[in-house]
Amino acid sequence: MLGIETSCDDTAAAIVRDGRSVLSSVATNQDAFHAKYGGIVPEIASRRHVALLSAVVEDALERAGAAYAVIDGIAVTRGPGLIGSLVVGVAAAKAMAFALRKPLYAVNHLHGHVFAAFLDRAEPPPFPFLVLLVSGGHSQLVAVESATTMRILGRTHDDAAGEAYDKTARLLGLPYPGGPELDRLAQRGDPRAHEFPRHRPAGESLDLSFSGLKTSVRYFLESEAGRDASAPDVAASFQAAVIDVLMARVEAAFERDRYNAAVLSGGVAANSALQAAFRAWGEHSGVQVFVPPPKYCTDNAAMIAAAAGHQGDAVLADPLTLTADPNLPFEL
Ligand code: KG4
Ligand code: ZN
Repeated sequence: MLGIETSCDDTAAAIVRDGRSVLSSVATNQDAFHAKYGGIVPEIASRRHVALLSAVVEDALERAGAAYAVIDGIAVTRGPGLIGSLVVGVAAAKAMAFALRKPLYAVNHLHGHVFAAFLDRAEPPPFPFLVLLVSGGHSQLVAVESATTMRILGRTHDDAAGEAYDKTARLLGLPYPGGPELDRLAQRGDPRAHEFPRHRPAGESLDLSFSGLKTSVRYFLESEAGRDASAPDVAASFQAAVIDVLMARVEAAFERDRYNAAVLSGGVAANSALQAAFRAWGEHSGVQVFVPPPKYCTDNAAMIAAAAGHQGDAVLADPLTLTADPNLPFEL
């Protein structure tokens, strides 16, 4: 399966066998083009996809030692994401599927993050499992009953976890994208140095919120005490609050229902402290946990090809009429 992913600012293509074995996965990141604006500029992202996609697909084929002729199908991210970015990948995939007379699969980007846990693993997570999906655009808890039956149990009311990392990193004067930089800084800090607020949802809700935390860090940094505070301590204390909030929701979901495993996915899953907390909780609670390697946690096309491999006919699309959908609903 040839996978194509252009929902945000990474231009990616991959070749995956059986929804699992990655023969190649190429992702070019556009950070250098967006860094000076401190965030992703949608128009620039679409233009870079136009410039890069053909070469990225060729590269993926070459690295896999594959030719177009041996591809069984083409999987593309239909949404959610930036409309201009999605259109580039969808148009390319439609043209290829039509010209090569191969089946076309239209994948939900978030389902892709779920199937990242199936890549290059002898044993994928057993159904039903819970996914903590934390990226720059999304933060949610997903109950996965089968490849095609998934339900969102809770989502963020405001910022996504990665967005909170990036905005807080900016307050600390770190370069964009700040998540990985903040992660590194926090490793030298004391997570108990400052007590930042942990959001608690009302009643039974498993929803998340990070804007209060981000604002509280901002007020602190603007205060007298904040001006003298050590940046690593602030980073570590912010990170501790994010992780507490995320892990509290995972625990609450497990208290409510039975799952055979827990998966951590999305760009923020690359965070070292979150990974450590997730694994420690798995050991302590006896739950089998899965954390894909960072290259499959951040946006990539292998996870899109994997999703199509497992969802099959449920995501089959018509190469003449498929449209990108920036607000694609989560459930199939
Ligand atoms: O999944 P992803 O590549 O793109 C989206 O679909 O959003 O996630 C990117 C996000 C960014 O916000 C980035 O700062 C964050 O993931 N991120 C991290 C780390 N690595 C990436 N956040 C915290 N710690 C990290 N090590
Ligand atoms: Zn993503």
